[in-house]
Amino acid sequence: MDLDSLTGEVLERCDLLARFTEEPGRLTRRFLTPPMHDVHRTLSAWMLEAGLQPRVDAIGNLIGRRASPSNDSHVFAVGSHVDTVPNAGRYDGILGVVLGIAAMKALAGRSLRHAIDVIAFSEEEGVRYATPFLGSRAVCGTFDPVLLTRHDATGITMGRAIQDFGLDPTDIPDAAYTAGQLRGYFEIHIEQGPVLEALGLPLGIVTAIIGQSRRMLRFTGRAGHAGAQPMELRRDALVAAACFIRRVEQIAQATPDLRATVGNVIVEPGAANVVPGMATLTLDVRHHDDVVRLDVLARLLDEANGLADDRGLGLDSTAILDQAAVPCDVELTERLAIATGTTHRLVSGAGHDAMIMASHCPMAMLFVRSPGGISHHPDESVLHDDVKAALHSTIQFLGERGA
Ligand code: GLV
Ligand code: MN
Ligand code: MN
Repeated sequence: MDLDSLTGEVLERCDLLARFTEEPGRLTRRFLTPPMHDVHRTLSAWMLEAGLQPRVDAIGNLIGRRASPSNDSHVFAVGSHVDTVPNAGRYDGILGVVLGIAAMKALAGRSLRHAIDVIAFSEEEGVRYATPFLGSRAVCGTFDPVLLTRHDATGITMGRAIQDFGLDPTDIPDAAYTAGQLRGYFEIHIEQGPVLEALGLPLGIVTAIIGQSRRMLRFTGRAGHAGAQPMELRRDALVAAACFIRRVEQIAQATPDLRATVGNVIVEPGAANVVPGMATLTLDVRHHDDVVRLDVLARLLDEANGLADDRGLGLDSTAILDQAAVPCDVELTERLAIATGTTHRLVSGAGHDAMIMASHCPMAMLFVRSPGGISHHPDESVLHDDVKAALHSTIQFLGERGA
């Protein structure tokens, strides 16, 4: 198959996988929900066709291996994630997996020294259990078993969800690569921002991924009657949350390169005629400089405490994630730049499985232009010629890394 046809196939495959969703009419596919079975079945067939032997590990990662013809036990991995945010686009994560399989199909006749694993990570977004990178943590041997007791929004623990999917959570430690086995990890991902488009470039080499902190904050006041409670006697949790959200925006706007987001608010009891007694919100803070990120995070938590005190409310804060900024491996990145002929370098503002993999082996990333910079949105898109360039680069790089 020539490169143009293979690119067309990659795009058709992304379209097809977008049909596997929890919600009719929009793409939402969280960790180990039923449509993940369809994704595994479909990707497994494509892996077999590309000469990869598929298996599913205990955290639900689907891994297709092309064994090395020698006795070399080393593996080079390429991958990304197959879970999505609610009402997602078709390319965040899945494009990197489908491109990895397509590249291996193109390399089917080539003899490679190292084994290659194409990994479809089961979870990166942190939506179902409010904690990201479950799949990549498991293969790096850093999955925290305490997480198995966490509940999703419907009360199902993570351990139960894994069992319901047909897997055994006690096997998660076996998902880890052994020390020294993994020679490197490569991830292709859409940029999700506007930088490459502004420069008129199809591809970019990632040099680092910015750090991120996530918290769950809960303001607790007192619910009451919306008509009978005078304004001065209320302890309204949502008003405090609203003031906090505005402060988050102001502080982020006043701090160069900082990104801070309140992406979800749950109001309880949540009725038009009840003063909100409880407001639970998520906070996501990102910066390329870890010192700045942690400093702003501390200031924001102070702000939240001050607002709670002023209004006679309680405040609980739960740490969800503190992930330091991660540089890509200099040598592997240089090889990627040479193998692909891509020169422009940029920093990733989004988190990726590559951040976790970098703790285990050399890591490199390639970005594909995102038209309009749109992502985490159903209008997310890619251009045929950009995907073709990414596929060509992936074939070159994997051919060279496995050789
Ligand atoms: C992943 O998409 C993230 O950066 O939150
Ligand atoms: Mn994402
Ligand atoms: Mn992603």
